[in-house]
Amino acid sequence: MNIMEAKQSWIEKGYVDEPIPEGIDLCAEIRKMCKEKNAVILAHYYTDGAVQDIADFVGDSLALAQWSAKTDADIIVMCGVHFMGETNKILCPGKKVLVLDLGAGCSLADSCKAEDLAAFKAEHPGYKVVSYVNTTADVKALTDVVVTSSNAKLVIDSFPADEKLIFGPDKNLGGYINAVTGRNMLLWDGGCHVHGQFSLEKILAIKAEHPEAKVLVHPECPAPIQKIADVIGSTAGLLNFAIKSQATEFIVATESGILHEMTKACPDKTFIPAPPEMSETMGCSCNECAFMKLNTLPKLYNTLKYEWPEIKVAPEVAEKAIKPIDRMLEISKNLKSAMASK
Ligand code: 13P
Ligand code: SF4
Repeated sequence: MNIMEAKQSWIEKGYVDEPIPEGIDLCAEIRKMCKEKNAVILAHYYTDGAVQDIADFVGDSLALAQWSAKTDADIIVMCGVHFMGETNKILCPGKKVLVLDLGAGCSLADSCKAEDLAAFKAEHPGYKVVSYVNTTADVKALTDVVVTSSNAKLVIDSFPADEKLIFGPDKNLGGYINAVTGRNMLLWDGGCHVHGQFSLEKILAIKAEHPEAKVLVHPECPAPIQKIADVIGSTAGLLNFAIKSQATEFIVATESGILHEMTKACPDKTFIPAPPEMSETMGCSCNECAFMKLNTLPKLYNTLKYEWPEIKVAPEVAEKAIKPIDRMLEISKNLKSAMASK
């Protein structure tokens, strides 16, 4: 295959599918390229343990945005999903932002199309729009302020009590924020396919067997799961709770990749992943985000080597989308997410 054919195949697949040279030390080569190219690797807690271990920074969505805003690297390699790469690019327009696979999307971001949000806004004049970070750059460009699960309450509290708000796209996070703030924000009807799958019945059965276990719940989970939580928080918030807690057992209702850092940080504690509804019948791993799991070490090697796939955001979109992201970062500048930097 010549180079033109090879590139065509990358474009079709959304990632560089070149074979890894035999006998190389993959991790050493990745770190070497980072040094030579002044590149930094960021990873979300839901990626594979091997990807988290080689990253310069691992964190929740807020921490990843905070880090990308202040890095002096020339290249940011975002091991996560597409909207995270877009957020990095919007924050750092002069840097090259790479992802490992353009197919790593997000069902939650997909549940809110910019044209639908624009129509909804037009139907609700006088409302401000609050968007979860799990949205496309086009949606952020229509937004007044962005939030993550770490800072959603803080950001919403910054609005006057009578401000009319549209919150999207995650209806579970929105419902949780309505409950804890006493507001009545209009909620977009979107959700995450992973967090929507957890089985209340199965979690309660595990809890019956482990009565001392604390139940850790991400706010993207539906309300009945939130109701039985000992703590509701972002990935970093849940990790932080587990580190500080006197308890020794935890049932974890979020994507199972977080167990890697939890187990590393608390080797003497037991973490039980909350099971999804369909696990026995389908033989699936529905508590895994298939998009996050598209991030692998061979793809990381090839992404760094060929500096592709690169995230591009149209300047006119970035110019609008930066404002609600900056507003979020300003409101949360004193909020430090739990982090596992190296
Ligand atoms: P946080 O890491 O901010 O909790 O976000 C979770 C998530 O769903 C990322 O897609
Ligand atoms: Fe999106 Fe859900 Fe995957 Fe998070 S876990 S990236 S919200 S699909």
